[in-house]
Amino acid sequence: MEYKSFFGNREITIVKGKDQYVWDTHGNKYIDMHTGNGAAFLGHKNEYVIKEILQQIENIQTLSTSFNTPIREKMLEKLEGIRPKEMDYVSLLNSGSEAVDLALKISRKITSRKKFIAFKNSFHGRTFGALSVTWNPRYRKPFMPLIDNVEFLEFNNIEELKRIDNETAAVIIEPVQGEGGVYPASIDFLNGVYERCLQTNSLLIIDEIQCGFGRTGLTWTHEKSKAVADILLAGKGIGGGYPLSIVFYTEEIAKEIDDGDHGSTYGGNPLAMASIVGAIEAFEKDNVLEKVNNNSKAFHSELNNLISEFNIIRDIRILGLMIAIELKINASQIISELQKEFILALKSGLNIIRFLPPYKIQEFDIKETKEKILEILEKINLSLK
Ligand SMILES: Cc1ncc(COP(=O)(O)O)c(C=O)c1O
Repeated sequence: MEYKSFFGNREITIVKGKDQYVWDTHGNKYIDMHTGNGAAFLGHKNEYVIKEILQQIENIQTLSTSFNTPIREKMLEKLEGIRPKEMDYVSLLNSGSEAVDLALKISRKITSRKKFIAFKNSFHGRTFGALSVTWNPRYRKPFMPLIDNVEFLEFNNIEELKRIDNETAAVIIEPVQGEGGVYPASIDFLNGVYERCLQTNSLLIIDEIQCGFGRTGLTWTHEKSKAVADILLAGKGIGGGYPLSIVFYTEEIAKEIDDGDHGSTYGGNPLAMASIVGAIEAFEKDNVLEKVNNNSKAFHSELNNLISEFNIIRDIRILGLMIAIELKINASQIISELQKEFILALKSGLNIIRFLPPYKIQEFDIKETKEKILEILEKINLSLK
C-alpha cells in the first residue's frame, strides 16, 4: 500500500526474529546487527524476557505506578544485582529521550542553575530537552530555538573542562558516543569530567542508554573510570526489546524530588517491569558479559586487518559489541549491499557503518560478516580502478 508516513524504508518486510536473526516475507534469514537501534541487545524473543512478559500478562497488564504490585518488588530486587551501588532510586519511563529530559529537569531544580554542558558529536535523543543537548546540527536546526544555555565542549579534550563552572547545572556525557560513530571517552577524560563536576557542584548525568547493560563488556561502561554519576540513564538493552528507560539516582538527588515533579502514564507499567526482570535474568544466567567479550575479540580478529587491505577504510573502532567501520566514502551503498547479502547494519553520520549485534551472535556469524564485507569492498575497489 502507498501510504505517506515518516517511516524510513529499508525495502524489506521483516516478519519475525529469533536470537541474532530476523526473517523477511520471502523466508530470507538475516544476521541482525541493527537490532532496532541497539534495543535487541539480548537478541530477539529472548527466552527469559518472553517468559516474564507472558507470566505478567496473565496477571495484570496496565497499572499506574501509584499502586504497588508484586512485579515491582521483583524488579527492584533484580535491579539490586546490576545497579551501581550509589544508585538507590529509580524512575521508569518509556524512551531514552524522556529519561534525558527528566535528568535535565531534575538538575535545574536541584541546582537552581540554568547552564548545561554536553559534548560535540553527542546524541541524547529527539525530544525538546534531549535534542537541546544533542550536537548534530542536522537534527537541531529546524527546531531552533531549543533550550538555551547549552555549551558543547570538545569530547576527550581535558583542557575544555574548565568551561564547567559554578553556573553549570549538569554535564551530560555518553561514555561511548554511539550514534556519533562509536567514540569512547578516555578514562582520563571521564575522571576529569567527574572531578570538575565535584569542584563546581555541577551534577553529572551519565547516559548509558546505548552503551550500558553489558554492551561494551562491562555492566556499565563508566565503571572503567572512577566517575560516579549523580544520575545514570539506561534504556535499549535493559528493556530486553520492550520500550522503556530507567533513570537511576543517588539518595542525595532523590530527596530533592517531590511527588508530581514528573510523571508518565505508561512509565513503569507492569509489562515494562516484567521485561526488566527478564532482561536481568538473562544477563545473570546467560553469561552475557563473557559472551560480549568473546564476540568482541572475534570481531577484532576478523575486522582489524581490513584497514590495511582497503584504502577506502579510514578507521575501525570496536568496543565490546559496538563496532564502527569508518569509510572515506558514504556508507549507504555498502549498508544496502550488506542487506542484499542478508546482514543488517546501521549508519552513523555519513560515512560510518555501525554494527550493534546481540550478545548471542556467534563466531560463524562474525566470519560470515567479514566475508561479505570483503566481497563488497573488493567489488568497490575494482569499480574504482
Ligand atoms: C546515548 C543515547 N541517549 C539517548 C537516546 C535516545 O533514546 P530514544 O531513542 O529511546 O529516545 C539514544 C538513542 O539512540 C542514545 O543512543
